[in-house]
Amino acid sequence: MSTRTYSDEDQKLFEEIANGCKFDKGEELPALYDKALKNLLWMQHDSEYSGALGYAPWIEKAPTMQEKVIVAQIVKDEMRHASVIYRLLKGLGEDVDSHIKDSELSFKMEEESANIGFQRLKKDFRVNIFYYPINYWEDFILFNFLMDRAAGHQLEDTLDSSYLPWKKGIEGIYKEEIMHLAHGDKWIKILADGDNKEFLQERLNVWWPRVMNVFGSTKGRSNDLYVNLGLKKRTNAVIRDAFVKEVEELANASGLTLPEYIEEDQPTRH
Ligand SMILES: [Fe+2]
Ligand SMILES: [Fe+2]
Repeated sequence: MSTRTYSDEDQKLFEEIANGCKFDKGEELPALYDKALKNLLWMQHDSEYSGALGYAPWIEKAPTMQEKVIVAQIVKDEMRHASVIYRLLKGLGEDVDSHIKDSELSFKMEEESANIGFQRLKKDFRVNIFYYPINYWEDFILFNFLMDRAAGHQLEDTLDSSYLPWKKGIEGIYKEEIMHLAHGDKWIKILADGDNKEFLQERLNVWWPRVMNVFGSTKGRSNDLYVNLGLKKRTNAVIRDAFVKEVEELANASGLTLPEYIEEDQPTRH
């Protein structure tokens, strides 16, 4: 475990933030805060953007006309989320256009069964679940059920962010993520009641460790920093527990079982 120490100045900043200090657009940000904020924004931007592209083929592949419309709406939501974060990053002086042009945000792994654990495959900042391909309608639904829900839990903390432009932007994004996960919930019930329940369980087994990895290693310390800076309220481990509890209840209600997840078995970043 890293033993990062903070200067007196940093400690003072943590205290001010704990006492309600917030930052607004155009204000000068302390270096530590600026870096942490940009890390989180880049991660969200690239995740929303690559998420939209990963969903897009499912406009055509969705099973009914009504579902094609819903998937198209979800794709539009995700790209809009990316655009909200794009504006925030640009406001902070980041060159987002060059990044979009130079990185491969449409990249997806071809090898369906590989477990990349916590590894990053390209020079972008997406949460690494967005490297995996969405190959079946069950995968699309599990993405709504699991990943949009995980995002919802994480964004819940941002509703109270110390960076006001982000807090403001998240309100609409959060509502839309709730609609996406509700779409997942509706379809999990339909699929679990159908002939392909076994296949749904199989795909759940595949996606479960991938979504659990989204919360990062519970041994990492960067989350404590985000909490100290008011950019998160809870550590990822705490958010993950709330997420697991919710998914477990929903999965069990549909007769599905969550496989065991062992963090130590996950390949780590190199
Ligand atoms: Fe999103
Ligand atoms: Fe979403």
